[in-house]
Amino acid sequence: MRTQVGIVGAGPAGLLLSHLLHLQGIESIVVESRSREYVEKRLRAGILEHGTVEVLREAGLADRLNREGLPHEGISLRFDEEDHRIPITELTGRMVTVYGQHEVVKDIIAVRLAADGQLEFEVTDTKLHDLTTDRPRITYTNAEGRAEEIECDVVAGCDGFHGVSRQSIPANHLNIYDHVYESAWLGILAQTPPSHEELIYTHHDRGFALHSMRSPERTRLYVEVDRTEKLENWSDRRIWDELHTRLALKEGFDLNEGPILDRGITQNRSFVAEPMRYGRLFLAGDSAHIVPPTGAKGLNLAVADVRILARALDAFFSLKKSELMDTYSQDCLKRVWRAEHFSWFMTSMLFSFRGADPFQKELQKAQLRYTATSEAAAKSLAENYAGMPFEWSDR
Ligand code: FAD
Ligand code: DHB
Repeated sequence: MRTQVGIVGAGPAGLLLSHLLHLQGIESIVVESRSREYVEKRLRAGILEHGTVEVLREAGLADRLNREGLPHEGISLRFDEEDHRIPITELTGRMVTVYGQHEVVKDIIAVRLAADGQLEFEVTDTKLHDLTTDRPRITYTNAEGRAEEIECDVVAGCDGFHGVSRQSIPANHLNIYDHVYESAWLGILAQTPPSHEELIYTHHDRGFALHSMRSPERTRLYVEVDRTEKLENWSDRRIWDELHTRLALKEGFDLNEGPILDRGITQNRSFVAEPMRYGRLFLAGDSAHIVPPTGAKGLNLAVADVRILARALDAFFSLKKSELMDTYSQDCLKRVWRAEHFSWFMTSMLFSFRGADPFQKELQKAQLRYTATSEAAAKSLAENYAGMPFEWSDR
């Protein structure tokens, strides 16, 4: 097979890239190791930044998002059993939208298939070859067990943190920054209406807790757990008890309970591999960088990367200009490092980190009080949370 851009991974990065390229008249083939059903059900991110929604709207991918997405104009910081609202929209003129990542994935797959887009699910043994030539290749075994080869001009490595793309780059060509935290997130999806109209980010001596949502009928909740914690140690009762304790308010807080539909543990990790390019291979999204979920940035960074990559590839294919390909990595990394800092900052401020020393605990409290009482501090948080405008990162 021959195509212009071979895309590895049908997560948000790979799918959105294939659609943006299609709008620019550039051909691509996406290969994905999981089934369509699996990627359409995989429960992950839920917060779309202002700019992410703009990109999806401009790309004609927002019919259902416009109908079902829940726009949010503020969040609550909860500590010492009190709420402190951060009015994101009042402070920044921007907002975020609650809309599940798997819904974004479903929407893009439907649009790609309707346009006869080539998506190959359930492939195995993906390998990348000749990346430093102008004819790189992807080989894999397809769902029927047949060996396949795609010859392309460019390969986009959109295969997430554990994918094959970053691992195909010789180690001496990458700078790796890796920070592992003591804590992890235990997340549940519950069949019950949200208990509050906005997200609540809670700092409690027993650990962080987050109240989020997916729809008027479904609540998404998280509690901080130890890095080595096992899901089987957490009965439904233990999860709800911990949430009641951490989300308590002086004046009382009614947390709605309901059947738990999904649960999982996610590690907190900060990771950057740079540059995000090796020859004709371009990394985008989680394959190049990971953030702890606390700032809700991972999916949004993936979208920001492919927005820049799609432009660079347009200039390359339609104008034969490679300057934007050459600056791709540095253009992305500006936003990536801003989000790395913000996600680390939110995690440092909100998580309890079992065993944190008393000095660190006082610093956390000082930062929480400052954010809750200073408009300048709240505005900085709000600007990052809603997402730095593209005009900022395009500068
Ligand atoms: P992925 O979504 O990981 O997609 C990569 C794809 O490549 C996968 O489908 C995988 O199956 C496929 N693949 C892997 N290896 C191969 C191979 N060898 N061959 C072919 N295909 C392969 N981000 C936010 O912005 N906001 C949030 O609120 C948020 N909350 C989160 C909550 C949780 C619990 C988790 C786990 C993550 C959260 N994130 C959040 C992060 C976000 O989900 C990721 O950053 C996002 O999925 C990155 O998209 P991606 O397309 O780069 O990678
Ligand atoms: C959700 C996840 C996050 O990491 C976050 O910061 C906010 C919301 C969510 O899944 O709803």
